Amino acid sequence: MHDTTRKAILELQKLYPEKRSALIPALHLAQSEQGFLPREIQNEVAELFDIDPNEVNSVVTFYDMFFEKPVGKHILHVCKNASCMLRGADGLIQTLCQKLNVQPRGMSADGEFTVIPSECLGACDRAPMMLVDDQVVGPVQERDIDKILSEAKKGPGHPSPVEVEHA
Ligand code: FES
Repeated sequence: MHDTTRKAILELQKLYPEKRSALIPALHLAQSEQGFLPREIQNEVAELFDIDPNEVNSVVTFYDMFFEKPVGKHILHVCKNASCMLRGADGLIQTLCQKLNVQPRGMSADGEFTVIPSECLGACDRAPMMLVDDQVVGPVQERDIDKILSEAKKGPGHPSPVEVEHA
């Protein structure tokens, strides 16, 4: 982990009465270095928090916004919960994965996309919906997919909610 990230995490911890409360923003910071959180980095974070590395791993694997393996520049979260499922989310996920030739959570060969079937993303009125990087898109029809992918490619990629300048 970069020194700047380590220092930023230590600063973050000071903002909370219990330093453990800073774990999620700290993981975002750590993830912003490479775009994902390999186990060595998770272990370093655990050390900074004086907690068991398995605890950090359980947080990383619980949340869809953390990645243990490299992911595409653009993240396509596709909601698979009730409202979206009833309006065709399964077919959408399947078509997206076929078009990109990836498995869910895998990375397309050109490094551009990762498709993540997700729990409710809070926009049920737009069902079936996707979060394309940080933008809500929906209701999505299968015929919209090519346009959605080409528009996404023009953008900067999925943002981290917490950033640090690396020297
Ligand atoms: S069920 Fe899909 S956004 Fe809520």
